Amino acid sequence: MIEEPKINRNLALELLRVTEAGALAAAPLQGRGNKLAADHRAVEAIRGALGSVDMKGTVVIGEGEKDEAPMLYFGEAIGNGLEPEVDVAVDPIEGTSLTASGLPGAISVVALAERGTMFTTHAHYMQKLVVGRRARGVIDLEMPVEWNLRRIAKAEGLPVQELTVVVLDRERNNQVIAQIRDVGARIKLITAGDVAGALEAALEMRFGIHCMMGSGGATEGVLAACAIKTIGGDMQAKLHFRDDKEKEMAVKEGHKPNKVLCLDDLCSGKDIFFAATGITSGELLKGVRYEDVYAYTQSMVLRSASGTMRIVDAYHPIDKLRAKGLLPEQVAVR
Ligand code: FBP
Repeated sequence: MIEEPKINRNLALELLRVTEAGALAAAPLQGRGNKLAADHRAVEAIRGALGSVDMKGTVVIGEGEKDEAPMLYFGEAIGNGLEPEVDVAVDPIEGTSLTASGLPGAISVVALAERGTMFTTHAHYMQKLVVGRRARGVIDLEMPVEWNLRRIAKAEGLPVQELTVVVLDRERNNQVIAQIRDVGARIKLITAGDVAGALEAALEMRFGIHCMMGSGGATEGVLAACAIKTIGGDMQAKLHFRDDKEKEMAVKEGHKPNKVLCLDDLCSGKDIFFAATGITSGELLKGVRYEDVYAYTQSMVLRSASGTMRIVDAYHPIDKLRAKGLLPEQVAVR
């Protein structure tokens, strides 16, 4: 028997408007070199849009402190205060540096789940291992890279050399990169944006990426887990500490520092809602484009209760966006 969802509205469709607002607010600053201004605009737009959603939300994991951004801060109450009570994970711009440089792959992203079900931490980083449906259940973050790649290749029915692994290009991931190369698998290095990287791995059939490895942001890890619980891949993660202070903080938060976190540890919710909108065009989503009198957006909307993945193309009249303050004067209307 299918369990009835506790939240009987499709909040994901309301979240769609939220991430569209974040992307539309950030996009005019594409390539203008001002990360903070783009973040500021996206945060304000997301905060405003979340404020009108019927929910009693609490931000349990976000980016504000990490970026010293104008903050959707940990513990911030969000929504209009009506039921349901939910945890909120949010990253108004996932890929601020990509946005500021006009590079591909920046998205605006939000997830919700029942109150008390999302992993929360002030730790910056997590080591992550993400795979698609076919390799569900075969991974183990405690085991060497080679062991995991060989198991993933077997599950995919491919020689290990035919696997493509996405890795965030960081010094701290150099060892993982070297180990993947030793095994002979392909690597797609990304300079930022590992929520999109994780989703491409989970949706391996659409993107030809079989796995994501290496360490990236903790908030991004929880956001990715919320989506992966809906689209059906697998993920394991482990907090990655830069120093003893961070480790002590995690212990104070009640975490076991070396614990391997499975999907249910990252989000134990049954009613999960996720939305992401492209800011700059990437493989996962197209970015905001200004076409004649419209601003075009593309978004991904997920609801775990139904398992539906929607890809939504939307056309927003530029004059109305300007009236809402979502477009600065630089963007001309024909
Ligand atoms: P923000 O733009 O949201 O700050 O994050 C971009 C990002 O590349 C994430 O995708 C990734 O998880 C994280 O930063 C990695 O952090 P760092 O750049 O400090 O290595």
